[in-house]
Amino acid sequence: MKKCVLLTGCAGFIGSNFVKTIACRDDVKAQYDFVIVDALTYAGRLSNIQKELDANPHLTFVKEDIRDAHKMDQLFKKYQFYGVINFAAESHVDRSIESPNIFVETNVLGTLNLLKESLAQFEKTGSFRYLQVSTDEVYGTLQLDDPAFTEDTPIAPNSPYSASKASADLLCRSFFETFKLPVTITRCSNNYGPLQVEEKFIPLMIKRALANEKLPIYGTGMNIRDWIYVDDHNEGVWKVFTAGKNGEVYNLGGNSERQNLDVAKMILKHLGKPESLLSFVQDRKGHDFRYAINYSKAQKELNWQPTVRFEEEGLERTINYYKNLWAK
Ligand SMILES: NC(=O)c1ccc[n+]([C@@H]2O[C@H](COP(=O)([O-])OP(=O)(O)OC[C@H]3O[C@@H](n4cnc5c(N)ncnc54)[C@H](O)[C@@H]3O)[C@@H](O)[C@H]2O)c1
Repeated sequence: MKKCVLLTGCAGFIGSNFVKTIACRDDVKAQYDFVIVDALTYAGRLSNIQKELDANPHLTFVKEDIRDAHKMDQLFKKYQFYGVINFAAESHVDRSIESPNIFVETNVLGTLNLLKESLAQFEKTGSFRYLQVSTDEVYGTLQLDDPAFTEDTPIAPNSPYSASKASADLLCRSFFETFKLPVTITRCSNNYGPLQVEEKFIPLMIKRALANEKLPIYGTGMNIRDWIYVDDHNEGVWKVFTAGKNGEVYNLGGNSERQNLDVAKMILKHLGKPESLLSFVQDRKGHDFRYAINYSKAQKELNWQPTVRFEEEGLERTINYYKNLWAK
């Protein structure tokens, strides 16, 4: 019998790519049905996955909000899920600085609703898989010479966004420790690729460059992020969901640390635009300096590693995607 898995937040960037590359794969389709729940906030677009929904009877879409405990209860009763992959979140750091409440409501309380329903189902059937999609930002920030984050790095989030994600991770941990709910957590670095909302760094830089508008660079532009192509991340999520050890955290990184300024310059170069479009603006409050991920645990235990090279493949693919979308 096929297993039914709840996917939350899959009208957004990473989740919609997950639907395309993992949930619609033949071997996955043969074993799983998916119910996709998304509240369709400003970051969720049904059009991201409409083609897949139309073509695949093993996918069902339900517009619903994970903050609504009663609706989540009805959903779990109706579908008797085998597992959950929780992508749904408020995900933009700048917005969390302006308006943190919704980050706690969705990222913390929404996750708690899912954990409670998962536990009820687990206690009924004795088997369950819950995967929390988290972020390297829960570890805080690094200096230039610090070793990369491992799963043992203490969490020390600095923004309301990362604090809400860290809180959700701790709730997940507590449901494993207290109730033995089979939980895994992935912590991933900055994703890039198609279907990302334009407020995020790479699509924003591409959009501005295509329109010959200024590219806003926070502070000096020296901040460093590790970039991972979205398909590499999703492959890791699936490996952890299907083979990760219960109660464990897995870091997923792209092996591509780059300064923000360098990424903006690469985009300008690729599009044949002048560096005079770069515009240094006031730094983000509490801006983390550097993130770097040690993913050797996922490599060793799950045979996972990133495959897409940043400049040569991933960035070029991403620029071409947005160019086709936006170029006049
Ligand atoms: N983008 C990254 O670089 C990155 C890196 C590491 C981890 N993550 C994590 O990955 C997950 C997905 O990130 P993303 O970049 O695709 O985010 P996104 O903002 O593009 O998408 C989030 C999705 O969640 C939905 N959503 C928001 N609130 C909801 C609610 N209350 N109920 C149901 N659905 C709701 C939105 O409608 C949207 O479709 C998040 O948990 C994020 O914290 C993202």
